[in-house]
Amino acid sequence: DTGKRQRLLDAHKIASEFYRDQLLTPEAAVGRAFLQERGFDRAAAEHFGVGFAPQGWDGLLSHLTGKGFTLDELKLTGMFSVSSNNAGRLYDRFRGRLIWPIRGITGETVGFGARKLFEDDPGPKYLNTPETSLYKKSQVLYGIDLAKRDIAKTRQLVVVEGYTDVMACHLAGVGTAVATCGTAFGADHIKIARRLLSDDGTGGEVIFTFDGDAAGQKAALRAFEEDQRFNSQTYVAVGADGADPCELRQSAGDQAVQDLIATRRPLFEFAIKASFEQFDLSTGEGQMKALRHAAPIVANIRDVSLRSIYTRELSRWLGMQFVGEDQVVRAVAA
Ligand code: GTP
Ligand code: MN
Ligand code: MN
Ligand code: MN
Ligand code: MN
Repeated sequence: DTGKRQRLLDAHKIASEFYRDQLLTPEAAVGRAFLQERGFDRAAAEHFGVGFAPQGWDGLLSHLTGKGFTLDELKLTGMFSVSSNNAGRLYDRFRGRLIWPIRGITGETVGFGARKLFEDDPGPKYLNTPETSLYKKSQVLYGIDLAKRDIAKTRQLVVVEGYTDVMACHLAGVGTAVATCGTAFGADHIKIARRLLSDDGTGGEVIFTFDGDAAGQKAALRAFEEDQRFNSQTYVAVGADGADPCELRQSAGDQAVQDLIATRRPLFEFAIKASFEQFDLSTGEGQMKALRHAAPIVANIRDVSLRSIYTRELSRWLGMQFVGEDQVVRAVAA
């Protein structure tokens, strides 16, 4: 009910303030150094509400119980783990980590993303809030509260992989960037994106940036599978050496991030080229296999002139002399 939901929202607000204040403590020096090294100054950290979770077991627990929250209420926040060998006691889920508050579209904190900072931490690099009544990972987009106006105004949405990438994009002048939180860009995210873009068939752009690594390639291909749900044009922007926006801004500055977005390529072009890696294009047989693989993708392009352009492009990518539209049609039929 609404009373319980409000208590949960209150707990998140107080927790995000707690983490934010902790970033100023001596213990958080490693967290501040991380931010500085990534090119984020104090104002940037404040703008995104970045915080620090101390290493102790119950820093947040005692803070919130001190504010009058019951253990039953706290169990529902996802901010705590339940001890298995200590009589079911609660302890802080995030310890020794940098904290990003994950906010809903109207700016209320609904969960947290947490990156490890200490070398001897055996846990995963990133840890997020588990599913709660407030936090559904298939529906959250990190940065949406800050990006929504620019998205609606420019009818462009940039999807990046991580929290630091969203920060880097916004600071570099790409205010339309959001990130999924430890999950693929899926059907629910698409619904949200379409609404913001007023995706009614008259345009809008969705630009994905993925790391050049294997996980990034896989994410791009997955996004492509979902592509048909958009009327908007979908694009991919991948840095020359596979650098993510945060790394790019660190090494080459704000302009390089803007250039990355500006030099986007259509998602299907990226997907087709990526799929070619499984074929040996130095043989005629490999070229034909690749053609049969790519033909249905090209044949599905809705825009007639675009389809014709990419039919011609296909022959270039394959190193074949010429691929006509009839050959594409026959390859689909085969
Ligand atoms: P940084 O060093 O933090 O910049 O990481 P990276 O750029 O190597 O991160 P990577 O590309 O591996 O991951 C980007 C995003 O994926 C993160 O912001 C997380 O949301 C998510 N992610 C990465 N690793 C994990 C993990 O171990 N668990 C979960 N749940 N999410 C992860
Ligand atoms: Mn990666
Ligand atoms: Mn990585
Ligand atoms: Mn990355
Ligand atoms: Mn990164």
